[in-house]
Amino acid sequence: MKNTKNNNVVWHHATVTRERREAQNGHKSIILWFTGLSGAGKSTLAHAVEEELHRMGCQTFVFDGDNVRHGLNSDLGFSKEDRRENIRRIGEMCKLFIEAGVIALTAFISPFRKDRDVVRNMVKDGDFIEIYCDCSIEICEKRDVKGAYARARKGEIPEFTGISSPYEKPETPELIINTGNASLEESVRKVIEYLKDKKLFSYTEPESTPKKDIPDL
Ligand code: ADX
Repeated sequence: MKNTKNNNVVWHHATVTRERREAQNGHKSIILWFTGLSGAGKSTLAHAVEEELHRMGCQTFVFDGDNVRHGLNSDLGFSKEDRRENIRRIGEMCKLFIEAGVIALTAFISPFRKDRDVVRNMVKDGDFIEIYCDCSIEICEKRDVKGAYARARKGEIPEFTGISSPYEKPETPELIINTGNASLEESVRKVIEYLKDKKLFSYTEPESTPKKDIPDL
């Protein structure tokens, strides 16, 4: 977004870099972006993957509607523009988490391809892993954990994704998980296998890592 309000702000470069944090953590930082319909199982899968990564000693954090739409993005609704802004802000936040050496996991419907690609383009190649939680609208509607589909069918929730607002499937996601039929265990294993294949956990210290120079206090 073009910013004309803070032209005099200069980026301050940290001496503790992303690479040094990654070396200390023993893994790379990355965004695991779970996308799919409401009720597809994004949050469940993101939290289960986080559990596994945490058990392995990784630094992680899950962003989902509960901790973002109630706070930082409480001013946003579900129009196309608001959803775009929702995803943009979350993307910027994830970018900072990447700099902090963290594996950021997100669970937002993020229905528009263009909005997801905005986040993909905010970060370096390979930093954004799009995980499509593939679950049919029929199954999501049958689950209707929050009762939202029933309300949307009655016209009580306007622009509801899958009912009165579109969901654009990812064309070339890094991973597709069949969250309609696969078990949670199997789905978690698939994500972890992918990360192992991509050598997320085999991080070796870069040669140029500056020596820690901590002044005596
Ligand atoms: S997104 O489209 O902007 O990515 P987000 O993931 O933050 O959506 O929020 C989705 C959740 O908000 C759904 O699980 C649902 O419970 C609730 N919700 C409320 N209104 C809508 C709506 N119009 N469309 C989709 N979900 C909605």
